[in-house]
Amino acid sequence: MLGRLNHVAIAVPDLAAGTAVYRDTLGARVSQPQAEPAHGVTVVFVELPNTKVELLEPLGENSPIKAFLEKNPSGGIHHVCYEVEDILAARDRLVAAGARVLGDGQPKTGAHGKPVLFLHPKDFCGTLVELEQA
Ligand code: CO
Repeated sequence: MLGRLNHVAIAVPDLAAGTAVYRDTLGARVSQPQAEPAHGVTVVFVELPNTKVELLEPLGENSPIKAFLEKNPSGGIHHVCYEVEDILAARDRLVAAGARVLGDGQPKTGAHGKPVLFLHPKDFCGTLVELEQA
């Protein structure tokens, strides 16, 4: 069911500082910051040859990564995103297996304009998992 690793998302308290780490220290190609008000984050995409890293900084008061950064003040891996061919089929299979899908269970449009769902970390080895229909 799982396809490629689409991205690893890292929450950071300071996007400019995180960008400098990836661009200047690690020598990666990074995008301009992109505000995603609907998702409560500003994102920088780090383009790697085989996948992406997304640096996420909270945007607005109700940012979904705010609590994570309170627990992890210097930042940390927030989620991993795997590609699936059919997100509704993937969801139905996981729900049938007893996994919890976050929110109302309906795919939302993610940062790349494609349908995404998030899965409960307690059902997936302690890691928040995003599925994206590729
Ligand atoms: Co993501």
